[in-house]
Amino acid sequence: MKQISAGWLTALRAFAIGVAALAGLVSFPAAAQKIEGLALTPPMGWNSWNHYGCDIDETLIRQTADAIVSSGLRDAGYTYVNVDDCWHGERDAAGNIQPDPERFPSGMKALGNYLHARGLKFGIYSDAGMQTCAGRPGSQGHEYQDARRYAEWGVDYIKYDWCNTGEGVEQRNPREAYRTMSNAIAASGRAMVLSVCEWGDHDPWLWAGQYGHLWRTTGDIINCWDCTVSHGSWSSSGVLPILDQQAKLRRYGGPDGWNDPDMMEVGNLPKLAENRSHFAMWAMLAAPLIIGTDVPGMKPEITAILTNPRLIAINQDEAGQGAMKWIATPDWEVWAKPLADGGWAIAILNRSGETQRVTLDWGAVELKDDTFGRQTDFAQMHYTLTDAWTGSAQSDTRTPLTRDVAPHDTAVFRLRPMIL
Ligand code: GAL
Repeated sequence: MKQISAGWLTALRAFAIGVAALAGLVSFPAAAQKIEGLALTPPMGWNSWNHYGCDIDETLIRQTADAIVSSGLRDAGYTYVNVDDCWHGERDAAGNIQPDPERFPSGMKALGNYLHARGLKFGIYSDAGMQTCAGRPGSQGHEYQDARRYAEWGVDYIKYDWCNTGEGVEQRNPREAYRTMSNAIAASGRAMVLSVCEWGDHDPWLWAGQYGHLWRTTGDIINCWDCTVSHGSWSSSGVLPILDQQAKLRRYGGPDGWNDPDMMEVGNLPKLAENRSHFAMWAMLAAPLIIGTDVPGMKPEITAILTNPRLIAINQDEAGQGAMKWIATPDWEVWAKPLADGGWAIAILNRSGETQRVTLDWGAVELKDDTFGRQTDFAQMHYTLTDAWTGSAQSDTRTPLTRDVAPHDTAVFRLRPMIL
């Protein structure tokens, strides 16, 4: 019988794996590649994209970092300063990525040092394709080299995007792509959070937690309350359409692996109530709290929203369980988030353009969370109530709560078990 050479065997094997991968049969090994424990509560910080897009440079990032410190955002927990798309220049002759020399003339290591000296952390953006969404060099084929470079620069967080990864059967396998970058980070020797940004296209909630610490669940957010804007082949959505996609995903998020409904537009929405609701609901979802506004120019009422300690505590609760939609009507909804102390956070969201009077007669409605196995019978157990926006104590759950919620606003209450 004719011998098959080793070269042919390898080629045959590669072909078979390729066919199997295309057929979705290959599951890449689930060994723990990611550096664990970097995001035990949802990451908090700022990112340049939502407000500035490509119009960024080192002066803007430094001024923003200074404002994050002076406004109290850092001390409230917002430590990541993430430089999104468009920081890149060309690769050098050895293939090393370099920053845009005009926009970042001092280099990225200097920027990392600047942030670290202020008690902040440094985040950077790349893409699993040959090019980023804005056409800058992507990391495909350079993953280990880029991760090493980022480690030299002192990077703490990588947002890894999904543009230009091919179409249809030609498309890069997302698990392979994110696993490769995760392994590259581990090999770099520096602990870096990996933010998986493939827009929820391949159900990342089922697999991305092996490789990264958070994963986008939707397409891009945009600064409107209830709109979807088409850009041709893709679209972006406002607060309500994104929120509506989250309830079914709550079972997948938790410590060190978070559902990411995208960076916040708090500060960029037209009405103050909408900014409040957006923040309240992202806090309720246990979503990463990544600010996307102009921090140096931020109005005091926006700073007050973003630094509200009670809302932040609800978001950062160590149980890491996102809220369930408890009561739904066309105009208003009540969401309930189980908390580590045995209590709940309750949000009354007014979706409508009219003030809504909502009464919660605790004893008359069952609060049962099948996903996280929590049940509260308000006839048996009583809770104190605190208004999370103001910190003021309310009546407890032995009497009904009635609240007028302004158009597009959200009331939030924290329920703590009562010792009688
Ligand atoms: C998108 C991503 C945005 C932003 C943008 C940069 O794919 O979802 O958050 O990073 O790319 O080009």
